[in-house]
Amino acid sequence: MGIDVKRIRRDFPILSARMNGKPLVYLDNAATSQKPRQVIEAIYKYYTQYNANIHRGIYAIAEKATQAYTDSKAKVAKHINASSIEEIVYTRNTTEAINLAALTWGEANIKKGDRILISEMEHHSNMVPWQLLSMKKGAKLDYIKLDSSNSELDMQSLGEQLEKKPKLVAITHVSNVLGTINDVKEIAKMAHKHGAKVLVDGAQSAPHMKVDVKDIDADFFALSAHKMLGPTGIGVLYAKRDILEHMEPLIGGGDMISTVDFYSCTWNSLPWKFEAGTSNIADAIGFGPAIDYLDRVGMGSIRQHEEKLTKYALESLEDMKNVKVFGLGKENLKKRGAVISFGIKGVHAHDIAQVFDSEGIAIRAGHHCAMPLVTQRLGESALARMSFYLYNEEKEVDKAVQAIEKVKKIFRID
Ligand SMILES: Cc1ncc(COP(=O)(O)O)c(C=O)c1O
Repeated sequence: MGIDVKRIRRDFPILSARMNGKPLVYLDNAATSQKPRQVIEAIYKYYTQYNANIHRGIYAIAEKATQAYTDSKAKVAKHINASSIEEIVYTRNTTEAINLAALTWGEANIKKGDRILISEMEHHSNMVPWQLLSMKKGAKLDYIKLDSSNSELDMQSLGEQLEKKPKLVAITHVSNVLGTINDVKEIAKMAHKHGAKVLVDGAQSAPHMKVDVKDIDADFFALSAHKMLGPTGIGVLYAKRDILEHMEPLIGGGDMISTVDFYSCTWNSLPWKFEAGTSNIADAIGFGPAIDYLDRVGMGSIRQHEEKLTKYALESLEDMKNVKVFGLGKENLKKRGAVISFGIKGVHAHDIAQVFDSEGIAIRAGHHCAMPLVTQRLGESALARMSFYLYNEEKEVDKAVQAIEKVKKIFRID
């Protein structure tokens, strides 16, 4: 089923804004998504009608706020097929979710000489926490290499690394640079056979495709609400219940305890033992309607729409002289998300983005928080990147292509 993009666009107030005097063309969805009015209104309604702290007050608006906060978690749990809200820990974002896993599960389970396996296509968020942990513990950080096309993981390299018996495999579901969709279900199966736990960085998959944590058999799964129509300041660490039960809390304080005396305390039940202090209540409440929105449109339909747009963009770019597109080609659409990193020979990515900006088009330029991949593997100092979402249209891709022509003209590139 196709999606009604015109109708969807009407729900996003910012999409009728202008940038530099031109209608805004927002193609930086991998960085953060825009928000529908349903999300904005839910936050407004919380602050104007029932703002109160959760889990404390015994008056009506506090109970309503607690209920709305819990409902939002229930929606997330259902959306990713977690068993219950006990497996859904709210964090600030994917980065904090991965750090929480590293600082609690990692702290307790990674010992000197142990190995942690990640890949060469990781975002810094799924690299630096493991570097820090390895340094602290004297563990070894290994990498699954990219294949010779520099687009996909080399499965042979994965197999070889697994023989070294890592304790953890931490892998991105979709690369924010290459757009590659990794077969995390297969990777988890292989990793589990070798006794490793598996953490999936879902920052770029959860917004764009159906995620089923049980089907993947992920031990941990991290995501950010702000990339999936929700507010900033809310992320999720999903983990299997028995793993969370054995993990110690990271931060102590209010809300995460059950009982406290002067010298000791007992911890609250899951997931609250990981949510010390007053939570980001408003944004958690705003995440609920974002999930509703995605479910209403349907993750399958969103994925289909983005696949079509990606194909259209790849076809539009393929004959452009001196334009280099990174990642898998259009014949591999099933393995590619709606992220297109590209370069124009002889032009710095920042200059490309600046010309786009003057045309009202928002794209990202830089190393995309994946410096080792961009600079060491792809051999580029920076890349331009357009990334699509459910509200983008083919005519916006056309505008991007015209902007590339303009860049080439300004910089006198063929
Ligand atoms: C693959 C990947 N992982 C992690 C992150 C970090 O997300 P956040 O900044 O919301 O923590 C991003 C953000 O772009 C990402 O693309």
